[in-house]
Amino acid sequence: MDWEERYADRMGWVRSLEIMDLIRLMSQRPLINFAAGLPDPAGFPVEALKDAADEVLTDDWRSALQYSEPEGYRPLRDWVAADLTRRGVPTSTDQVLIVSGSQQGIDLVARAFLQPGSVLLTEDPTYLSALPIFRSFGVEMSPLAMDDGGLDPDAAGAAMRQPGVKLLYTMANHHNPSGTTLSDDRRRPLLEHAAETGVPILVDEAYLDLRYEPGEPAPLAAAAPEIPILTVGTFSKTVAPAMRVAWLAGPAPVIERIGILKQLTDLHANPFTQRVVHRFLSAGHLPAQVDRLRSLYRGKRDVFLRALERNFGGRATWSRPAGGMFLMLRLPPEQSGTALLEKALEHGVAYVPGSLFYPSGDGENTMRLCFVSASAADIDEGVARLAQVVWS
Ligand SMILES: Cc1ncc(COP(=O)(O)O)c(C=O)c1O
Repeated sequence: MDWEERYADRMGWVRSLEIMDLIRLMSQRPLINFAAGLPDPAGFPVEALKDAADEVLTDDWRSALQYSEPEGYRPLRDWVAADLTRRGVPTSTDQVLIVSGSQQGIDLVARAFLQPGSVLLTEDPTYLSALPIFRSFGVEMSPLAMDDGGLDPDAAGAAMRQPGVKLLYTMANHHNPSGTTLSDDRRRPLLEHAAETGVPILVDEAYLDLRYEPGEPAPLAAAAPEIPILTVGTFSKTVAPAMRVAWLAGPAPVIERIGILKQLTDLHANPFTQRVVHRFLSAGHLPAQVDRLRSLYRGKRDVFLRALERNFGGRATWSRPAGGMFLMLRLPPEQSGTALLEKALEHGVAYVPGSLFYPSGDGENTMRLCFVSASAADIDEGVARLAQVVWS
């Protein structure tokens, strides 16, 4: 049977990213890896998770190991609703769906709102692994330029008024890949454009809590809580990605419908890890855990920025993220992040070419660098190697 032909209509668009395959292959030998967006395992709260898992398997194993409610473990939904409310987004439990990673949240929202020919507005650059989701629905991507303050709300508003626009996907805090945070004065106008045009916004708050500058980060939705938007958040970055515990919040009727879609996909998120995460949260561990991650990652960011200054100062520019896990290095225009990758891998250092993150096809002279995974010594060595690759 010719499988290619059989699935061409539905899966013709599915391709692995050859560059990521190359990085994976090369990662099998020792490599300083600025490519993968992996949290530092030193930040995993192992002891608290051991206790939580033990308690769940002692007191609540019947439910934890059983099929479960499609919308998620109710006490965890209560916790998320209360947390959003505390952060200025009044939310009730029926406005929260627990999902198996925010990746699934993005996929479900795309399934709910997009079809072939729909226009999707997204930042340029945007989250690499959201792009194939949107492409899988045959959408037309309409990229919006960003500057150091994020999206221009009026340009986004004008784009929302174009025919066929069905969704805007944005990362307002500690953007992946650019590290940018949407400035305060742009938030309310962006949401007002959404309210006026009726274009739904999906805001991805994956990195909300990973902030290294003073001041508590606010979810985008808090800028105008009376304007309904969809927010996806995750415990992958603050607790551990292997839990696959994340949430989607928004208007109750939308959440209910998307909950039905989720049920078709995987019945429900993992009841065991949902309970473990809930015990962790209700034992009050999160604030100390977030503080610990902030100080660990702030230190690494600063080491990275100093290494860039030493090796690239005056010859390239880069973002200075207030939070998150990534920054973008912008080389002179004649340089290509794609073309340099193989040489970088030969020198034992990996990154992701920035152009992959740009739906517009721009960003050829950029590299996305993850600053949290490598040790401080490896950051110094890896950035020096990168400079050799670029300048020699
Ligand atoms: C911006 C963004 N959104 C969503 C995700 C998916 O995270 P998870 O599915 O683990 O919640 C990631 C992971 O790197 C991300 O960077």
